[in-house]
Amino acid sequence: KKIALAYSGGLDTSVILTWLKETYGVPVVAFVADVGQNEDLAAVHEKALATGATEVVIADVREAFVRDYVFPALSAHAVYEGAYLLGTSLARPVIAKALVAAARSTGCDAVAHGATGKGNDQVRFELTVAALAPDLRVIAPWREWSFVGRSDLLAYAERHGIPVPVTAEKPYSMDANAMHISYEGGVLEDPWQPPPAGMFLWTTDPEQAPDEPALVDITFEAGVPVAIDGEALSPFRLLERANALGARHGIGRVDIVENRFIGLKSRGVYETPGATILMLAHRAVESLTLDREVAHFKETLAPKFAELVYNGFWFAPEMELLRATLAHTQRNVTGTARLKLYKGAAQVVGRKSPVGLYDAEAVSFETRTQVAPSDAGGFIAVQALRLRQAGRLSA
Ligand code: ARG
Ligand code: SIN
Repeated sequence: KKIALAYSGGLDTSVILTWLKETYGVPVVAFVADVGQNEDLAAVHEKALATGATEVVIADVREAFVRDYVFPALSAHAVYEGAYLLGTSLARPVIAKALVAAARSTGCDAVAHGATGKGNDQVRFELTVAALAPDLRVIAPWREWSFVGRSDLLAYAERHGIPVPVTAEKPYSMDANAMHISYEGGVLEDPWQPPPAGMFLWTTDPEQAPDEPALVDITFEAGVPVAIDGEALSPFRLLERANALGARHGIGRVDIVENRFIGLKSRGVYETPGATILMLAHRAVESLTLDREVAHFKETLAPKFAELVYNGFWFAPEMELLRATLAHTQRNVTGTARLKLYKGAAQVVGRKSPVGLYDAEAVSFETRTQVAPSDAGGFIAVQALRLRQAGRLSA
């Protein structure tokens, strides 16, 4: 009877809005989530109405996105395939959750999204809706209609008088939020071709970055970043500050070929300036505060966490288990890391903690406390038993 559409104001979702009304003959609510993409949302609101939405719902989820999705992923050290910090993957569940809330509050019985049939985003949207609102119907126009590419959309837009963006279309597809900008498709589909000049919108080219390094102090409480250079900031503001610092020094560019959940390999280019800094700082504070076995065990969970996020299982039972376990490890991860930012690189140069397990007196080469020489010798002798045995056999 009524459809809530995750709307961005771009060509695809503008066409979808009209197509939904035409195909299903019901009113369409345009839903826009503010995840820090830095857009003129008033203009998007206007455009949705001009394109035929009966209602427009705009939800500011910036703080929730950073606090409840980005920060837990950072403290988990979630990195997909060794490189991708999951900026888009983390935003999908928060957007889908807010879309469900908008559908409820406006009396919709279906939701729709503009993700294509070849990507990860369709999976993330739909798994989130399935988990949070099993009764809601999901409509994925890209899997229903017969349009193939951009020219089909343009022709449809022309026939229906849908306003088409006047700015020249970029030769690739972008997704932006408070954590990252991603670029894929178009000219990037040849994995041998370097990104076109002028593509990166956020970070300074490391070659053009300031010749003077910058020092930045990041303070964590129970695993959560709470202050930069001693100034307490809300999650979104803190990430924003880290982004500005990282962007200025050219930090956080990544260019990879990744494995989509759907089974395709895809080339993705990302800039993630602030989160790159924060994750490194978090590691430094953990290095002082986590027990060795807890740290090593926790680290084995990182790829699993990343895979679940990437594949769209944020609201899955196993994710709940994982998050509870990780949260348990973070209770003492309190302290400050000092980083040096310089021409594309961030380096830890100092760390301190009021609750650290680090004991300078115990570890010092200048003292004889804690480990008696005979204990260390015995420890090695016992460890060496097996190796002697094996060594004799292979000699
Ligand atoms: N490949 C990345 C991911 O799967 C980025 C996807 C970008 N999405 C987009 N609609 N442009 O998370
Ligand atoms: C899309 O297919 O809509 C974007 C790419 C992706 O989801 O992986």
